[in-house]
Amino acid sequence: MDRRQFFTCSTSGMALLFITGATAVGALVRFLYPGVYDEPPQRLKIGYPGDFAFGPTFLAEEKIYVFRDDTKGFSAASAVCPHLGCTVQYVGNDRQFSCPCHGSVFDATGKALYGPASRPLEWLEVTLAKDGQLQVDGGRKVPDSYSLRVQASS
Ligand code: FES
Repeated sequence: MDRRQFFTCSTSGMALLFITGATAVGALVRFLYPGVYDEPPQRLKIGYPGDFAFGPTFLAEEKIYVFRDDTKGFSAASAVCPHLGCTVQYVGNDRQFSCPCHGSVFDATGKALYGPASRPLEWLEVTLAKDGQLQVDGGRKVPDSYSLRVQASS
């Protein structure tokens, strides 16, 4: 190996070593500082209190039942069946929720009565937004006794 070959080989080796080192440092930085993924907001504005009739209102797009009671106020239950995620239906006459997929039935508090679902329906926090609309926070579970009392104009 003459001098020219030695330096050519040495330069290629250094370049390869540099690329390998830079790749390793890049991987380490990515490992230590992973990308942050913002979750979509789970707080949904659903309308003004006076927009809701007394009793249950089903919000199909949000898969939420909003209940307006003249003494207790507003509460919201997720319509997502805890078994495999079908949308439950509220049967007002029986004051129960039933799931059309596999037959789970829940009482008015969301407790599973029978069927394959072993967990209750989730109740979600209802609050009043600054603009006066009700908002439901899908990320905040509350007990079935929770309700929001507001002065509604109708
Ligand atoms: S998804 Fe509701 S019972 Fe299976």
